[in-house]
Amino acid sequence: GASDQNEDLRALIRTIPDFPKPGIMFRDVTSLLADAAGLRATVARMAAPWEDKGIDKVIGLEARGFILGGAVAYHLGAGFVPVRKAGKLPGKVVTQDYALEYGSATFELHEDSIAPGETVLIVDDLLATGGTAEAGITLLERLGACIAGCSFVVDLPDLGGAARLRALGMDVHTLVA
Ligand code: PRP
Ligand code: ADE
Repeated sequence: GASDQNEDLRALIRTIPDFPKPGIMFRDVTSLLADAAGLRATVARMAAPWEDKGIDKVIGLEARGFILGGAVAYHLGAGFVPVRKAGKLPGKVVTQDYALEYGSATFELHEDSIAPGETVLIVDDLLATGGTAEAGITLLERLGACIAGCSFVVDLPDLGGAARLRALGMDVHTLVA
């Protein structure tokens, strides 16, 4: 599939064992983001499936989803909206707790950041269990957003995130497994 066509990007992603906890193989995209050609190709390939999908806003999941989401939004000519960890957004928010591969956290989204019926694309660097993305989906659905799909650089298929999001009816696009 698409995951076989991005060996140039795969080669730029480092693996750091035992971060942030023993037993976790941390797939670190900072080395990909730091490479000029790698960053440009990543953003173009993440955005490609959504060019003609009428995306109004790209939703970036804290924190690496901000970097990629901002660039994908610019590429698509869409707005950018952050989903942030609890306590960071200054306005009225909707809130959702979630679990991920190595912990748990709380996400918030500004209540007035999406109008009901607006078409959005969720962007993050990596899909593991899908807990983080599902929390974003829950918040967006509470605001009446129309979610076109989700784009990630890395998929960790053994953790089942893509299957979990597809079971929710999501269109899931990833570059490297
Ligand atoms: C990482 C990654 C995804 C999430 C994926 O973020 O950037 O957002 O984990 O895991 P999941 O699919 O099992 O939910 P992290 O929570 O480490 O936060 P950060 O980007 O703020 O450092
Ligand atoms: N988020 C959840 N699991 C991860 C992993 N193995 N590497 C990087 N980010 C992650």
